[in-house]
Amino acid sequence: MHNYLCVMKQALVVPEKMMQSSLCVGLLLLLLIVAAAARSASAIMDGLLPNGNFEEAPDKSQMNGTRVTGRYAIPHWEISGFVEYVRSGQQLGDMLLPVPEGAYAVRLGNEASILQGLTLVRGERYSVTFSAARTCAQAELLNVTVTPDVGEVPIQTVYTSSGWDSYSWAFRAKHSAVSLIVHNPGVSEDAACGPLIDAFAIKILQCPQSLNDNLLKNGGFEEGPYIFPNTSWGVMVPPMDEDDYSPLSPWTILADTKSVKYVDAAHYAVPGGARAVELVAGMEAALVQEVSTVPGQSYRLEFSVGDAGDGCAGSLSVKAYASHGSVTAPYESHGTGGHSRASLEFAATEERTRVVFVSMAYTTKPDGTLCGPVVDDASLVARHSRRRLLL
Ligand SMILES: *[C@@H]1O[C@H](CO)[C@@H](O)[C@H](O)[C@H]1NC(C)=O
Ligand SMILES: *[C@@H]1O[C@H](CO)[C@@H](O)[C@H](O)[C@H]1NC(C)=O
Ligand SMILES: *[C@@H]1O[C@H](CO)[C@@H](O)[C@H](O)[C@H]1NC(C)=O
Repeated sequence: MHNYLCVMKQALVVPEKMMQSSLCVGLLLLLLIVAAAARSASAIMDGLLPNGNFEEAPDKSQMNGTRVTGRYAIPHWEISGFVEYVRSGQQLGDMLLPVPEGAYAVRLGNEASILQGLTLVRGERYSVTFSAARTCAQAELLNVTVTPDVGEVPIQTVYTSSGWDSYSWAFRAKHSAVSLIVHNPGVSEDAACGPLIDAFAIKILQCPQSLNDNLLKNGGFEEGPYIFPNTSWGVMVPPMDEDDYSPLSPWTILADTKSVKYVDAAHYAVPGGARAVELVAGMEAALVQEVSTVPGQSYRLEFSVGDAGDGCAGSLSVKAYASHGSVTAPYESHGTGGHSRASLEFAATEERTRVVFVSMAYTTKPDGTLCGPVVDDASLVARHSRRRLLL
């Protein structure tokens, strides 16, 4: 419910004090009821999209070998261009193909795309999760569109040993009827070099709130993209343009092509709560949040650094930056889970201060999986809060 509050606060710019007036609360309740009714109409629920894992197969009559020939042949999807429907364990060139979810996946050839219509709640923020595996092409990326927003998801780095990674991409629904389109913009000499995709899910993102005196929102990373309950490899959060909405909002990933990994307590050691971020790309991907600060005011940043209990052993370290200050928090990992707290005190020099976390090194597990330190439970508090000064 606080989700709607948050959306409307931004939409109507209602000042905090006015929110307390009973008139406003009444109006708010009315709007909530209308919004709830709109939502219950037919908007999609969190989880797998209809035939999101491609287990419902196209009819044989609409295929030629692995190639899908009918535009509407794959149930719940529409295709354009060279699209293949592939089975787990199938030989593709010199690759033996595993599939992350179920037994089937789809390959997008040069300039091919796949589309599904979605019914959403207008104004809500959503995150899409899907799995992708790059094949022979080098600088691969996927263009993800939820009309009218378009974003790029770079998939050239392979993070897990299976070759499949789950990715997330977020947007704010500008219409209730939209199309989700995944497009392979690549043009490779070998048409069979396009990426494989599978397991599409969606989730409504709650609006992150600040807790107590913490100026950072979503400091525990509890609000983030959908993670399939039975997948054990987390979800990558890729870099995004400044005007895009982040799946880990208000945290964003600053990077050229690298991502960070969002991990769950069901499959990883998480310092606090149910979710955390594993920095798997060394200094090439920074986790960033910008907050309002008062120039001259002193602040204290605290955070947990640890290991995800995923066998990532060695000398890990996280460097945190804020204003002109920085701290390096070393963490000796046995890969079995654990964490410690680190802190940084600094004086703000601007009205906006960026809090930045990066991993200081690349770490790889023996099976080739990229890994790194986890960051969790970040807080930023003014050394003498303004409220106390007023008293
Ligand atoms: C199937 O594809 C092959 C190779 O591209 C082509 O030669 C053949 O004509 C196609 N068959 C049909 C029924 O379209
Ligand atoms: C996850 O569970 C669903 C059913 O709940 C199943 O269809 C799917 O194959 C499972 N995926 C994996 C990777 O085990
Ligand atoms: C998507 O792909 C096209 C190439 O087909 C490219 O020009 C464009 O910049 C890509 N990204 C976005 C955000 O549209």
